[in-house]
Amino acid sequence: MAKKRMILKKDIKEKRELVNIEIDRFLPRKDEYPKQIHKAIRHTLFAGGKRLRPYLMVNTYRLFKDDIEKTFYVAGTLEMLHSYTLIHDDLPEIDNDDYRRGKKACHVEYGSDIALLAGDSLLVYTFNALANADIDYHLKYNIIKELAEKTGDRGLIAGQMVDILSEGKKIDKKTLDFIHNNKTAKMINIPIRLGCYFANASEEDQKRLEKFGRKIGLAFQIVDDILDIEGTKKSLGKSPGKDRKAKKATFPAIYGLAKSKEMAEKLISEAKKLLEPYGERAELLLMLCDFILTRKF
Ligand code: IPE
Ligand code: IPE
Ligand code: MG
Ligand code: MG
Ligand code: MG
Repeated sequence: MAKKRMILKKDIKEKRELVNIEIDRFLPRKDEYPKQIHKAIRHTLFAGGKRLRPYLMVNTYRLFKDDIEKTFYVAGTLEMLHSYTLIHDDLPEIDNDDYRRGKKACHVEYGSDIALLAGDSLLVYTFNALANADIDYHLKYNIIKELAEKTGDRGLIAGQMVDILSEGKKIDKKTLDFIHNNKTAKMINIPIRLGCYFANASEEDQKRLEKFGRKIGLAFQIVDDILDIEGTKKSLGKSPGKDRKAKKATFPAIYGLAKSKEMAEKLISEAKKLLEPYGERAELLLMLCDFILTRKF
């Protein structure tokens, strides 16, 4: 287990650097006029996130093919979009967190006005970078469509919306599922779908991996809710305890801590089963499943 964790850690680090190079190349330098916006964009984007979503795309592709370098550029764009969601999520009007990725949140460093614009810019950059991708036009179309559908107000934004509306309210389990599936699981599913598109995966594989993505996506947010209770500011790189303070609709709030852990474990074990047909090719993805469950950050 410890050896596996080392292999995964080394691979994540290596791919993170390669993906970072792709993002960096596309974005304006931080001293380009008006430099406040470019600095603010880079502040959160390069603060050191896990790069889980790009890594998921690379490793979904790896289930089918070996030339993974092909995926790095598009994988990087996902991190632009994800970072926009974090900058906006931390704003005083949403979750009001002043700490992110081990650094001051974007709005604390630059002010809410600039943080709002930095988030907007990253969202637009995502699609700009995709439009400029050197890939087949049909593939590009499918990718842009997938992202737009899953992250708009019928996806990620819907999840964020209901998350805010549910603060301090007694909500049912269906609403809790809606929040988590939309605000987080859909964005975790995007890289999996994109990895399939890149690899020309069959309908059957796409369906199976979509199920896989839904399970690890939900598990990822359940664990995030648990870490809000059990994690430390140092290891998380964000402020713990803020869900309870804001009376957020979380799994521990509705099911309790023990049951939430059980649910996350079950989802991960079901997800791992779905990877059986891929044999050794799924090795890193299987390790990633364990990481999602046991992570401390
Ligand atoms: C945090 O995502 C937001 C959630 C969806 C829970 P990550 O835990 O992937 O954050 P980074 O990218 O590593 O900072
Ligand atoms: C955020 O969920 C999901 C998105 C950013 C879309 P959380 O609000 O739980 O994420 P953290 O805990 O702030 O990272
Ligand atoms: Mg939030
Ligand atoms: Mg938050
Ligand atoms: Mg959270």
